[in-house]
Amino acid sequence: MSDTEEPVDAYQYYRYLRENTPVSRVDDGPWQIARYNDVLDVLRDEKTFSSDVSTRPPEDRRSPSMLFSDPPIHNRLRKLVSRAFKPSHIESQRILIESQSEKLVSAMCMNSRADLVQSLAAPLPVTVIAHMLGVADGDIQVFKQWSDAIFGNIADILFASPSPEAEAAGEEMDAYFLQRIEEIRRQPADHLLGRLIETETEDGHLTNAELLSFCSLLLIAGNETTTGLITASVRIFDEFPESFYQLKQSPQLIPGFIEEALRFYSPFSATVRRATRDTTIGDTEIGKGDLVLPLMASANRDQDIFDQADSFIIDRNPNPHVAFGFGVHFCLGAHLARLEGEIAVTSLTRQLESISLVEDDHSQMSVLGGPTELLVDFKPAA
Ligand code: HEM
Repeated sequence: MSDTEEPVDAYQYYRYLRENTPVSRVDDGPWQIARYNDVLDVLRDEKTFSSDVSTRPPEDRRSPSMLFSDPPIHNRLRKLVSRAFKPSHIESQRILIESQSEKLVSAMCMNSRADLVQSLAAPLPVTVIAHMLGVADGDIQVFKQWSDAIFGNIADILFASPSPEAEAAGEEMDAYFLQRIEEIRRQPADHLLGRLIETETEDGHLTNAELLSFCSLLLIAGNETTTGLITASVRIFDEFPESFYQLKQSPQLIPGFIEEALRFYSPFSATVRRATRDTTIGDTEIGKGDLVLPLMASANRDQDIFDQADSFIIDRNPNPHVAFGFGVHFCLGAHLARLEGEIAVTSLTRQLESISLVEDDHSQMSVLGGPTELLVDFKPAA
């Protein structure tokens, strides 16, 4: 692509950045970091690149969330939460996830066209998180509405003022969980929230404000991202139809498919840091206080790291993608996200004969969490 040619989609734009301006900024905005090694350097150096990016005054903020805090606050929160988030606890969700996923895909099969987001990709993760937090079945729909309102407004929540809808959703959700926390303190419960309330280490225990902050973090970090992984998988089936038939015949390829889907269309496409001192990335000088955006979706297509980076290779090995981040903030829910992705893809390849997109609209693929609607045509298996 020449300097004057307009990139057509986000992935062409990322390639353009990697090849021409790997560390760049538009006007006085944040610096975009496009190359794999630079992204890794930023993510691994939490002292120079802080996650505490909010510009809202401290008295105006919620209790610090793990994602947007630095050590030592981050260490304490992460240690406490990790106890309740062990792989064995996540693995115990398998039966619930399988039954939900099979049920949702069966319901989809009543027709031959559906919005994949509404039918499977959104309800599956929200139901899983709701169960982990002990949200009653009848409350899941409203829980999803809070999630949409909060996630849809994340930039303003951090840097400006939340919209009235996001503010109201946050308050309603806090009131709901505060009541649940009080109930669970009286009658302990064996789910994630129950374990979070009980967990006590040498660092003490989580306060109510920290528990509430973690409940909304799960929505921000764990919900729409997993929706994005499921929609990305189906887009890949449409673009590379042989991958669908390969998985139908050889389900043992599914874990590798999910890793490659995470690399190919990374649902958490970029994150944000703030420079704590004057520094450099590559040859570019970054000023203290500047915002920096490591573009993980771009890093994952870096042709210096990944052979045939723009090809989808179902059994790519090694596959050192950074779709779950890197360093101290590495995704706490990676195991759960992989499990949900694998189970959703298993249901789709088991219950369907074929699946394709109704429209080939690429515009939402680099948006955090992927498209909000994805119409698909499919044929149920005989
Ligand atoms: C495909 C789905 C997912 C993707 C691509 C993803 C990606 C990420 C990334 C890139 C980060 C690091 C962000 C940064 O460094 O600024 C992160 C952090 C986090 N994720 Fe995930 N995530 C996914 C699913 C989940 C799920 C299902 C959960 C939990 C239910 C979850 C919980 C978290 C938490 C708590 C953090 C903060 C960790 C910390 O700050 O120490 N994520 N995720």
